[in-house]
Amino acid sequence: DLQSASEIVIFGALGDLSRRKLLPALYQLDQAGLLNVESRILGVARQDHSVEEFTAFVVENLTEFVKEGLNEAVLARFVNRMVYQQLDFKDTVSYSNLAATLKGGHDTRVYYFSTPPAIYGDITDGLKSAKLITDADRVVMEKPIGNCLESSKVINDQVSRYFNENQIYRIDHYLGKETVLNLLVLRFANSLFTNNWDRNSIDHVQITVAESVGIEGRWGFYDDAGQMRDMIQNHLLQILSLLAMEPPADLSAESIRAEKLKAVKALVPINRLNVKEKTVRGQYSDGYLNGLPVPGYLNEEDANQKSDTETFVAIKAEIDNWRWAGVPFYLRTGKRMPAKHSEIVVQFKPQAHNIFKESHVDLPANKLTIRLQPDEGVELQMMNKIPGIASQMHIQENKLDLSFSETYENQRVVDAYERLMLEVINGNQSLFVSRDEVEAAWTWADSIIEAWQTSNEAPKAYPAGTWGPVASLSMIARDDRQWVE
Ligand code: BG6
Repeated sequence: DLQSASEIVIFGALGDLSRRKLLPALYQLDQAGLLNVESRILGVARQDHSVEEFTAFVVENLTEFVKEGLNEAVLARFVNRMVYQQLDFKDTVSYSNLAATLKGGHDTRVYYFSTPPAIYGDITDGLKSAKLITDADRVVMEKPIGNCLESSKVINDQVSRYFNENQIYRIDHYLGKETVLNLLVLRFANSLFTNNWDRNSIDHVQITVAESVGIEGRWGFYDDAGQMRDMIQNHLLQILSLLAMEPPADLSAESIRAEKLKAVKALVPINRLNVKEKTVRGQYSDGYLNGLPVPGYLNEEDANQKSDTETFVAIKAEIDNWRWAGVPFYLRTGKRMPAKHSEIVVQFKPQAHNIFKESHVDLPANKLTIRLQPDEGVELQMMNKIPGIASQMHIQENKLDLSFSETYENQRVVDAYERLMLEVINGNQSLFVSRDEVEAAWTWADSIIEAWQTSNEAPKAYPAGTWGPVASLSMIARDDRQWVE
């Protein structure tokens, strides 16, 4: 057994994240032989349940969320690892019950906080008072860590009272995605890109994270956040920092996180003075998706019809350093867009001189597209001669396309949570977010949110099933550019 034997304690084990992601991820690790025979999984939640009831819950959800179907032998083994403990998270005294349930004697213990972040501090205090924290233990924190810089500091302070930074794993599940991780390889294992990755070669970058889902079922939670806090502050800034950072000295957590931090810190602040020109906020209205009518944000179940929370954001981000001066990074993300579709477009600068004017007055510039999800792949637009005998050369823009599903035919695309869970068990923090990064990201996001609040402008409506408000097109068109469709 290469993996260390661990006790994995999930706080909020009956919640949505646990059902959909954490339990299936652990099951997949078990199936792949990556969980030590001795490892146990302890579900913790407020409700009273027997182990049998919890186990039935686990099986039911694995059946629903493990797409590939379940293997009976693996399932039996997996279910055998399960323990359940009822706990009142805020009642410090009740943590002695948890202490009694935990077996100990394992190499590592992982505490996974999958509850509302406001009680991460209570859980930490409870664990401490029951003497359940040692230097070997790890804690995993789900986002959102606060809803602004100040509140994130409160949460981080509470948890840091009894856990050192090297024990804290802040999850941004985008860092566990295959294609996001591949950005490191693309940039630093290919001299073609390593050597042309700057303001001399690149005109601009676009990052699109579009989702077709709306806010069904979690309206109240989402409404307190909005797309800026829910997606830009974390996922999009993480993608941006991997794209923009200087080469790290090596792949260690220390090196990678230091370079990402510098990139986020170099972002030009957006404030009251430039917020109109550099950002667009949108909110979906009634519309159609795949030909079917869908309600607007204000007409969803449980909606407060006066809400001015944004469900779409577009931003022209700029990075004030030697590498990127003058190269905008256009970000856009939204709910109820036409499809679930995330990609990065790196638009290179045009060729300085053209000797093919006879067939192409303007030579289109090279364009690198990184398809994050679905249909993962990397694609390079380039010019090529159309075969033929004619003395005048006919040339055409075509693409080199590295599709993951075709190239790595028998390779399953691993879910982000599987990878991240394994990294926690192995004690590698490279794919987790440091406190400094969280704070730098909030600093930049807070300034934008504050500017929006001061301007008091309602978000611009866009019909569900479209690519966002028209203003998002105009924002980029003002720079004589356009979103790549
Ligand atoms: C979560 C957000 O962090 O990421 C959700 O809270 C969003 O609102 C989700 O839907 C998107 O993740 P993925 O992996 O489906 O792109």
